[in-house]
Amino acid sequence: MRTQVGIVGAGPAGLLLSHLLHLQGIDSVVLERRSESYVLHRVRAGLLEQGTTDLLREAGLGARLDREGLVHEGVLLRFDRATHRIPLTEMTGKTVTVYGQQEVVKDIIAARRVAGGKVYFEVDDVSVAGTSGEAPVLRAVIDGTPVEIECDFVAGCDGFHGICRDAMPAGVRKVFEHEYPFAWLGILAKVAPSTDELIYAFHDNGFALHSLRSPDVSRLYLQVDPSESIDNWSDERIWGELRNRLGTDDGWTLAEGPIFEKGITAMRSFVVEPMQHGRLFLAGDAAHIVPPTGAKGLNLAAADIKVLAEAFTSFYSRGSRDGLDGYSETCLRRVWRAQDFSYWMTSLLHRAPEDTDGVLARLQLSRLRYVADSPAAAKTLAENYVGYTPA
Ligand code: APR
Ligand code: PHB
Repeated sequence: MRTQVGIVGAGPAGLLLSHLLHLQGIDSVVLERRSESYVLHRVRAGLLEQGTTDLLREAGLGARLDREGLVHEGVLLRFDRATHRIPLTEMTGKTVTVYGQQEVVKDIIAARRVAGGKVYFEVDDVSVAGTSGEAPVLRAVIDGTPVEIECDFVAGCDGFHGICRDAMPAGVRKVFEHEYPFAWLGILAKVAPSTDELIYAFHDNGFALHSLRSPDVSRLYLQVDPSESIDNWSDERIWGELRNRLGTDDGWTLAEGPIFEKGITAMRSFVVEPMQHGRLFLAGDAAHIVPPTGAKGLNLAAADIKVLAEAFTSFYSRGSRDGLDGYSETCLRRVWRAQDFSYWMTSLLHRAPEDTDGVLARLQLSRLRYVADSPAAAKTLAENYVGYTPA
């Protein structure tokens, strides 16, 4: 087999890249380890920046997004049992849209099917070779048969646990990593959201987030210890803790319903530099992980792919290598901005286990009040939250 761009991973990054390349007449092959059903049902975050929804729309992927996506013009901070609104759109001119990551994935897979795209699921033993030279090769086992795919370029879109990052020579890559002393317990519940806008809550017991998926599905999160087992969290305990952390003095109540999905996710910040070597380009979670408090993971993946697809387009249409050569530097500027914002949001809203005397909590409350009171501070949150493109 031969292709122009060999893509490892059919998450949002790999799928979107193959679709954008197809629109430019560039051939690609996507190799995914998991089944199609697994990829379609994996529950992840669901807040899209306007830059991401614009990109999806321009790529012809906006029909269902425009029908079912919930457009938000503000976000709520809750602390001291009161609510403070950050008017995102008033401050930045931009909106954000709630639309689950698996819906994005479903839409791209459907578009790839219509176009006869080569997306292979349940592929085993994917390996990458020759990326330092002119003729990289992907090897894999498809339907029990070993195959070799000659590529012009390889895109490593295989997530945090993928193999492409390690295909970069060890002496070339530098990893930056920070682990947090807490995790998120996330649930999906069949109940109408008790809020029109996302609520980020700071409480003595820890952070809580009320998000949503649709008019009758709510998505909620609780800060827990990373060593917690989900078995210790009955539905009653989860609702009780959410009621406690999200509670207000103005009569607001949290509607409860059957929980149909729950899990605990660790939080980390992670970046590999550079994001490219020779003919190998990393994108999305393969290159960087952010803690979810800033809602940046999927948006960063989409931003990488936009830059990469444009770089391949100018290479194939005009023979220019400039976009490809500048890929890592361009992406890393946005990645580090998002890392800083995600770290800032995380430290603003989570209770630190080491804060035994309450000094940090008081600093956090002061900072929260400042963000709620000062338009300048609120605008800093707003312009980063809706997606900031560094110069
Ligand atoms: N061979 C083939 N496929 C692989 C391999 C491998 N060795 N290793 C991993 N994969 C696949 C995974 O099964 C997964 O489907 O690569 C895909 C990577 O997808 P994601 O993890 O969703 O990463 P990405 O596409 O970069 O999307 C980033 O995911 O984690 C969230 O918050 C993050 O929303 C962001 C998004
Ligand atoms: C979600 O809806 O899953 C979600 C929203 C905002 C976040 C994180 C997750 O910051």
